[in-house]
Amino acid sequence: MRGLAAEGREGVAGESHSRPRVRLARRADARAWRALQQGIYDEGLWFVGDGPASERALAARLQLTPRHRAAVWLAERDGALVGWCEAARLQSQRLEHVAMLTVAVASGSRRTGVGSALLVEAEAWGRQQGLRKLSLHVRAGNAAALALYRRFGFTVEGVERSQVRAGGGFEDNVIMAKHLVAPEADA
Ligand SMILES: CC(C)(COP(=O)(O)OP(=O)(O)OC[C@H]1O[C@@H](n2cnc3c(N)ncnc32)[C@H](O)[C@@H]1OP(=O)(O)O)[C@@H](O)C(=O)NCCC(=O)NCCS
Repeated sequence: MRGLAAEGREGVAGESHSRPRVRLARRADARAWRALQQGIYDEGLWFVGDGPASERALAARLQLTPRHRAAVWLAERDGALVGWCEAARLQSQRLEHVAMLTVAVASGSRRTGVGSALLVEAEAWGRQQGLRKLSLHVRAGNAAALALYRRFGFTVEGVERSQVRAGGGFEDNVIMAKHLVAPEADA
């Protein structure tokens, strides 16, 4: 996957795209990060939450969270914010070897290598922290995300049936994970 993220990419329409710049988010990024999130929430198709946290809450998260517990990466292209990824370790000692991931790319920048570049950073961070597993939730109808995660070596660990209210009905929620250390056999 590194090669995919390391070079410029041709989008599906054939236009070429420069490699995104991926960096850790800072407190000063809270407003722009929130605006990016809002745009993706407004599509109404991908997330399970109702909307982004307040700018203040995001700023506090960026400033106060120790880097070994969680990290947020932003992807920029031509000076514009085009995607982000967040990884947060679970809190308890029994679970802190696992981090939950969220990744999202602005609608106009999808399929140009941004999501891949962000996942490369998140996985490198997970390995640096000695984590055993990266985990995430994805709505069953999100074919792009399922394809991206599979390509990155994530596999399905479970399905929560009719978990997400979507449109007039309900959608399954898929739990996927990538094991950075081979899972131990069940006792
Ligand atoms: C899912 C998402 C993060 C993918 O990011 P992206 O930057 O578009 O992905 P990339 O360009 O790095 O794609 C890497 C690979 O993933 C797969 N992929 C990505 N989008 C795809 C699509 N729409 N259809 C099929 N495969 C897709 C392909 O294998 C692709 O490689 P290829 O372009 O060489 O075929 C992006 O579509 C997005 O932000 N969607 C809305 C928010 C969201 O769903 N977030 C995830 C919530 S769980």
